[in-house]
Amino acid sequence: MAIKSLIKFFSNTPLMLMLRIGKLTKETCRTGFVLTAISEGIYDIMESGPATFEEIQKFFKSDFNPEGLRAWLDLGVSLGELKKSTNGYSIKGKLSKELIKPANDTWLAFLQVRTEVFYNFIINTPSMLKKKMQFEYSEAYGELVARSSRTLEPVLLDVVDNLIPKNNSYRLLEVGCGSGIYIKRACELNPLLTAVGLEVQQSVAEFARENIKAWSFEDRVAIENTDIRKYECKSDFDLVTFYNLIYYFPVDERIDLLKDLGKHLKPGGELILTSMCKGKDPSLSLMNLWTSMTDGYGPLPCPKQIHDQLKKAGYRKIKSEMLIPSFVLFRVIK
Ligand SMILES: C[S@@+](CC[C@H](N)C(=O)[O-])C[C@H]1O[C@@H](n2cnc3c(N)ncnc32)[C@H](O)[C@@H]1O
Repeated sequence: MAIKSLIKFFSNTPLMLMLRIGKLTKETCRTGFVLTAISEGIYDIMESGPATFEEIQKFFKSDFNPEGLRAWLDLGVSLGELKKSTNGYSIKGKLSKELIKPANDTWLAFLQVRTEVFYNFIINTPSMLKKKMQFEYSEAYGELVARSSRTLEPVLLDVVDNLIPKNNSYRLLEVGCGSGIYIKRACELNPLLTAVGLEVQQSVAEFARENIKAWSFEDRVAIENTDIRKYECKSDFDLVTFYNLIYYFPVDERIDLLKDLGKHLKPGGELILTSMCKGKDPSLSLMNLWTSMTDGYGPLPCPKQIHDQLKKAGYRKIKSEMLIPSFVLFRVIK
């Protein structure tokens, strides 16, 4: 190596910046590589052991551009996510090994939402604003978002456990039911409970319906593919739950919405609302950017705003609790 060239390179290069860029590039590539290897099924063929180059080609059902495939796999090797041996390619990296575990599916979805959905908002918000435009919500991501919001499941299952009476007939209305996991828990807690789960997105409603069937609760649970704003009011529910969707509504519509949620309750029935709130953490700022820039949605609330809006909607004796940082629960009685 020519020492003179090396000295010249280092004396003319902002070293700290170069190192920082190297680190950022590596982590960006790692995220893209691992998520793609999972979503394209490439890790499936490596799960039971190394896969040869020819086996991977066979999986692709194509021998088009072998150098391109080799380059892609070698990127995985240089990131430390794949290992290359005489037996072929195998999974090596910690991130890969953790994310392929079925138990970590919600965290896989959480990362996918941030890279496949939210990242677009980071890079395109200024140009959209210049054009006076908002992003359209894409149904294509409905199931992914529902899976990723299950990261809050350990906390919310505890909430359900404390809410549901263990006997007596009981009617639950769950608005924006996502996967239906909290309805499942409620059914397990009380054999006399019946529930309606509302889901505005067709694909998510189908996902919830399939889950409810797989859990054998279809006799006690109806999943309806409708918008809460269009759901006929019969005032026959003991409990209305509204977990993590207040930001799917513009701020100036939320008071009327909260008022209408109460109309579905019997006298003495309860409304439970949970929400992530604005915070300093970049992950919260990113979520706030997503909801603020999506057509028809609104910014993440802060606890005081929810409290004031519940009050304006006519509720008294408003109880609230911070379940984990920036994740708040409100409980009101009709
Ligand atoms: C962030 S997810 C939360 C899902 C679930 N409640 C949970 O906490 O895991 C919000 C869900 O509410 C649904 N949703 C949004 N607006 C709705 C509306 N107006 N009526 C019914 N469902 C709605 C969305 O389709 C989405 O599946």
